[in-house]
Amino acid sequence: MMALAPMEGVTDAPFRAVAKRFGADVVYTEFISAEAIVRGSQTARRKMAFQPIEQPIVCQIFGRDAEVFRRAAHIVQAHGFAGLDINFGCPAHKVVGHGAGVALLRDPAYARKLIEAVLGELSIPLSIKVRTSIHRERREIKPADNDCHTAVDLVKAIKDLPVAAIMIHGRSFEHGFDGTVDTAMIKAVAEQFPGIVLANGGIRTPDDAARMLGETGADGLGIARGALGRPWIFQQVKDYLQHKQVQSLPGEAVFAVAAAHAAQVAAGGQRALIEFRKHLGWYLSGRPGAARARRQLATVNALDDVHTLLAQLPA
Ligand SMILES: Cc1cc2nc3c(=O)[nH]c(=O)nc-3n(C[C@H](O)[C@H](O)[C@H](O)COP(=O)(O)O)c2cc1C
Repeated sequence: MMALAPMEGVTDAPFRAVAKRFGADVVYTEFISAEAIVRGSQTARRKMAFQPIEQPIVCQIFGRDAEVFRRAAHIVQAHGFAGLDINFGCPAHKVVGHGAGVALLRDPAYARKLIEAVLGELSIPLSIKVRTSIHRERREIKPADNDCHTAVDLVKAIKDLPVAAIMIHGRSFEHGFDGTVDTAMIKAVAEQFPGIVLANGGIRTPDDAARMLGETGADGLGIARGALGRPWIFQQVKDYLQHKQVQSLPGEAVFAVAAAHAAQVAAGGQRALIEFRKHLGWYLSGRPGAARARRQLATVNALDDVHTLLAQLPA
């Protein structure tokens, strides 16, 4: 199983639809504050919007209050999502500072309470997303610290509960988004967790995907940055795993995907198209003429600007 992993500011409805078109089996929303969902904030409502074509789509929430989680779960389910995911992995200061995201890994008993509260409300599957570990001290890497809390500790605390899936990002809180992925820890989680295990972190090529599956024994994969500007990676990974072959996309096909993606985004207005500039930059990345085109990204305000920019590039 191949999932488009959640990315704040990136995995919006148009991008998720493109990823589905190219073979993602399941897609996640950006993380959404459980409290904002309950409050009915405009941002939460915007982030919860999706098209039927994106199904099965999982809504990811973050927070740390059991009652708020329970109420948010009710709303998410009524909204028509195929699943609900709880974020136990976000390292951002604004999230960890409130004891949410990866900070919850420090307290498996409390994490269990949160999960139980949500399970009591849900009939759709519940999944969780975690990192490998967190130490006591912020951002300070201590190799052999007794006060290290791992994903395995959490899994042991909840494995009797009906949690359908876990996505594990193979890096600790302290390692952020770079550096080696700890496949041994993912493997340990896969050995303990009775549900579906999706291995995540550093998958940029079909070869990386095959290695990750081989080293961890996971049931599937979560791909985040590897899909930026290359949403066809899901299909490429599937082809590689089945036939040991990968088809690369010619330039015209890449531009056609970018243009179709832009057309979806443009339906959301000019602001959405300005947000799309970053996606356009990712589509251009590594292509001939990209450096010059990049300088024009700031002038992209309308769908025609996207077409003009793409038309200037060599295929
Ligand atoms: C821009 C960005 C935003 C992210 N937002 C989220 C998020 O909202 N929820 C979450 O669980 N993980 C989030 N992540 C983490 C990714 O889901 C993933 O675990 C991480 O990037 C490692 O996978 P990768 O190497 O395939 O990118 C984010 C990552 C990036 C780069």
